[in-house]
Amino acid sequence: MTQATAIKQDSNNQIMSRQQVENDVREQIAFSAEHTDNYHRPVLVVSKQRLRANARRFMSAMPRVRPHFAVKANPDAEILQTFKQEGTCFEIASIAELDAMIELGVNMETVFYSNPIKSPAAIKHAANNGLLWYCVDTPEEVEKIAMIKPDAKLYLRITVSNEGSSWPLAGKFGAGPAAVEAIMEATKQHSMQLCGVTFHVGSQCSNINNWVAGIRAAKQIFTQLSSHGFTPELLNIGGGYPLQFTGDEPSIEQIGEAINRELESIPGSIQVMAEPGRYLVGSAGCLVSQVVGIATRDEARWIYLDTGVYGGLMELTMDFPLSLVSERTGEPGLWTMAGPTCDSIDVMGPHSLPVNSATGDFIYMPNLGAYCTTCACDFNGFPTPVMRMVE
Ligand SMILES: Cc1ncc(COP(=O)(O)O)c(C=O)c1O
Repeated sequence: MTQATAIKQDSNNQIMSRQQVENDVREQIAFSAEHTDNYHRPVLVVSKQRLRANARRFMSAMPRVRPHFAVKANPDAEILQTFKQEGTCFEIASIAELDAMIELGVNMETVFYSNPIKSPAAIKHAANNGLLWYCVDTPEEVEKIAMIKPDAKLYLRITVSNEGSSWPLAGKFGAGPAAVEAIMEATKQHSMQLCGVTFHVGSQCSNINNWVAGIRAAKQIFTQLSSHGFTPELLNIGGGYPLQFTGDEPSIEQIGEAINRELESIPGSIQVMAEPGRYLVGSAGCLVSQVVGIATRDEARWIYLDTGVYGGLMELTMDFPLSLVSERTGEPGLWTMAGPTCDSIDVMGPHSLPVNSATGDFIYMPNLGAYCTTCACDFNGFPTPVMRMVE
């Protein structure tokens, strides 16, 4: 293939992906639009059909990888039930998420506790309810678990590059090469089992190399584990799989292709799992919000919504190119968008909306099924978005 043809094909693919993103946005708005009737607070409309389709697409892109839905992305009971029906397992980070698993009636040995720092009370609660697998990334955490659940199966979270992720998670968690040895020593001292490796490439990750490098690093750790007398049993490739905001993000099939290739050299005796959160639930949810005020300040046009940073839109302050679509048509203009609270951090930056926008307009925000309702609080008395499921 000549270079010119390759470039043409690339740009054709890009045009196609952008077209798909636009169609997807339109589809999400279509299933949300009827929820403006009797509107009195922001509504996150979630499509069950899309939850199912996302789970199926993930599994078919990576047949060897068992998905464990990261409950933190959206712990709604009906969403958990839908994923359970699709054969998805779960990953948890807190006592409340563990209780949601009890409520859901899943086999606790399939639930993975991937928060590397857990309170003694949380470990006790997990142990009493049959949880087997616990993540560690410090010798201190190994010691803490040893006191409460000495027969736990531990898996080690290592640091990997988070470059190319909109919401990096590096720094706060993950053991670097120097810490890995100390964790192995601590595990041996307590006669515990360290039998797996995990990593997280950062949320909304568009850099496929992060997974590839993570799996390669895990392979090295497996050798290290074996030389310490441990038997490697688990590779957990974490979360981070991105939504399509612009069409430039890699698809789950492209990510899967690279991951599947790397997995060819992982022995069949090692179970492989992932912890997708955003990918499974994000594109199933569209937020419906309403304009509560318009202002001009120092010649800048401000638009105030009935929800904001406190009401589930924290990610709009970061590098998330979410589409905002007004019910009103008109010339687009740049607005400074803000939430309804009296706090000055409740500002979500510049966004394009019709210049003739007015109080009362409905604004649709597709792709907000993850980390929206679950991150919202009712500061200042403004109601958090309510969830509505549609088939
Ligand atoms: C340990 C762990 N696993 C999985 C996830 C889910 O990540 P994502 O929603 O990007 O797939 C997170 C997100 O913070 C996490 O901390």
